[in-house]
Order: sequence, then structure tokens, then C-alpha cells
Amino acid sequence: MANIMLTDICNLRCPYCFANEFVNKSANEISIENFKRALDFIATEPNAKLGLIGGEPTIHTQFAELLKIVISDPRYKDVVLFTNGVKFEEFANELSHPKFHILLNCNSPKDIGQKAFDKMVANLDLMVNKYYMDDRVTLGINIYKPDFDFDYILELLKKYNFQRVRMSITVPNTSEKRDFNVKDYFSSIKPRFKEFIYATLSNDIMPTYDCNKMPTCVLTEKEMMEFNELITKRQRDREMRRLPPLPMPHVSSAINTDVVNCAPVVDIRQDLTAVRCFGLSDCTKVKISDFKSLPDLRNYYMNEIDHYAFKFGIDNECENCYRRKTLRCTGACIAFKIAEILDYKKKHGSYIKGVRDEK
Ligand SMILES: C[S@@+](CC[C@H](N)C(=O)[O-])C[C@H]1O[C@@H](n2cnc3c(N)ncnc32)[C@H](O)[C@@H]1O
Ligand code: SF4
Ligand code: SF4
Repeated sequence: MANIMLTDICNLRCPYCFANEFVNKSANEISIENFKRALDFIATEPNAKLGLIGGEPTIHTQFAELLKIVISDPRYKDVVLFTNGVKFEEFANELSHPKFHILLNCNSPKDIGQKAFDKMVANLDLMVNKYYMDDRVTLGINIYKPDFDFDYILELLKKYNFQRVRMSITVPNTSEKRDFNVKDYFSSIKPRFKEFIYATLSNDIMPTYDCNKMPTCVLTEKEMMEFNELITKRQRDREMRRLPPLPMPHVSSAINTDVVNCAPVVDIRQDLTAVRCFGLSDCTKVKISDFKSLPDLRNYYMNEIDHYAFKFGIDNECENCYRRKTLRCTGACIAFKIAEILDYKKKHGSYIKGVRDEK
């Protein structure tokens, strides 16, 4: 999977958003020409999945045109649109094409205001009831504070019979805000997070992680076993009721494993520079033209960033931790320790540069 960033502008200002660094500073839209070049680059990976991100991608002034290009490109069969859902209907003809999946960032009305929320819900209704896209829409929640609101999304998940929900425990969006104990951050969120897991599973909705999973020293094995038992109970109950089983997620996004790591996503920006992922934007920028293929670029990030992720912990306890030593836990998102990684590399003579610069 690789994402193309269509624009820096957004019509919302979510409090947690790491696009805030760019959002609303200038439109900075991708040109049609660069969009096609980015598509050519991503297609160097066999069966590549494409993501369209922003800012808010639907705000791009030629969004319909970009969608048509993707629709007519036989190299792409799976395309995910990351959207806040405020704009949809004017693009419904294109977005209802079977190659699109919509990841609807379902924010609380307390965060985005009732008007934007109502618009998002009206569009969700259209997706499900007018365009029959329910199996191609996933609702996502961004968890960014200990008392986060989830009643609104639970209501929508139940109303539209969704069987899964994506959860993103956000990474604080500035390096200043990241100056804290990471485990304390997760621990502060955990009680409400567990309530969310129980509330969703009890309603036959499978919660799945984006990246930034809770490390096992915060969310304990015992607690994960309890999730497991609840999942098993729900599956048995469904079997008795002759219902199909709930979809089980891949281990990388499951709530009941102790594997806490991630892989480079690769976000391509409007000027055809790439970053490993949004959270590492300011320090992993390279030109895609310096790489022969997307797999090569991914390997570059593996070598230059991910390789170090297991070497550094997020506190002293990580130093001797079995899970870190056996590549099971990076201590959550790499953004939490990127400063340390860069510092280490600087001291030891290897600092991230474009590959051509290193020759
Ligand atoms: C940057 S947004 C852009 C697309 C679209 N506007 C949206 O909201 O989905 C893409 C995704 O980034 C994620 N995101 C934003 N800020 C984040 C943060 N601070 N930590 C982790 N994920 C974040 C959200 O989950 C969102 O689905
Ligand atoms: S809608 Fe998306 S891009 Fe806009 S502020 Fe929210 S998370 Fe950021
Ligand atoms: S590596 Fe660190 S964060 Fe991960 S489980 Fe071990 S002590 Fe916890």
C-alpha cells in the first residue's frame, strides 16, 4: 500500500490531526501530471494498493478528474479513499465504482461541530442506502484523549450493521506534545479504550487497530485474553444463531496479539517526495525519482528507519524486554523515538539522506 497526498487543505480542523503541520497553510494540490507519475511509481509494486489522502482529498479542485484516471487505470484494483465524509455526493458516480473503498474518519460532533457531523452522517446514509456501498465503507475513530467520546460512532455502527471499526490511537501531532512518558499516555487512555472494545464486541463489531498499538506492558496479556474470550463467545453465539462469523483481522491489526510494530506505508507528496508515513514527515523525505521501484523505497525505509526501531525502547524497562529483543515490540509508533534514532545515526555517521546524496 502507498498513499498519494492530493492536497494540504482541509475543511475540518480535528484537534489531533498531524496534517495540521500542512493543513490550511496553502492549497498545494497535486497536479494531474504528478498524480500520473505517482501512479506509475506505485504500480512498480505488484498488486499495489493505493490510498488517497490529504488534507481532505475530496477538496482537490480536480478530484473527479483524478478519480476517473484511477478508474481507467487497470493496474489498480483496490483504492482506499481516506475522507472525513463531509463531501461525497458530487463524486458518488465515481466513488461508487467497485474499486473504491471508503475509510470514513468518523469524528465526534463535539470535535467537528454538529453541522459537519450531520453532513458526514447524511453522506454515510447515501453510501449505504442509495449506492449500496456498505461492504466498501469502514468507519474509523481517532482516540486522542482519556475521556474520548464513542457513543456517536457506536450508534452509527449499529444503525448500519457494520461488523468492524478501525481505531487509531493518535500520536500527538507535534514534537513538543510528544515530550512525555509514552506508557503513561497509553495507560491514561486504556480504561476508556477497554470500554470501547467491550462495547463494540458486545454488539458484534470487531475493533481493529490502525498502527500505534498499545504495548503489552500497558495492555496486559491477561487483558488481551479477556478480549479473546469475548471474541470466542461472540463467534459461538453467532454460530448458534446460524450467522456467519465476525471477520477476523490480520495479526497486524488485531486487538489480541502482542505484536506491536508497523511497516513503512509510504506517503507520496504533491511534489513527488515521499515520506515513510505521515507521523515521520519531517525527517524521512526522499525523492521518488531516486528509487527504481516502490519495493526498493520501502526497503530503504526498512534499512534506514525500521531497522533501528527495535534497537531503542521508549523507557528503561524496554532495554531488557524479551518482546523488544525478539522483534515483537517496537514500543508503539516510531514517531515516539525518532529523535533518538536520528541522533544515534548522526553520531555514528549514517544520517538519512536521499540515496543519490549518499553516493
Ligand atoms: C491525515 S488524514 C487525511 C484524510 C482525511 N482528511 C481523513 O481525515 O481521513 C488520514 C488519517 O490520518 C490519521 N491521523 C490524523 N492525525 C493523526 C495522528 N495525530 N496520529 C495518528 N493518526 C492520525 C487519521 O486516522 C486519518 O484517518
Ligand atoms: S479531516 Fe482529516 S485532514 Fe482534516 S483535520 Fe481531520 S484528520 Fe486532519
Ligand atoms: S519493548 Fe518496551 S514497550 Fe514493548 S512490551 Fe517491552 S517494555 Fe513494553
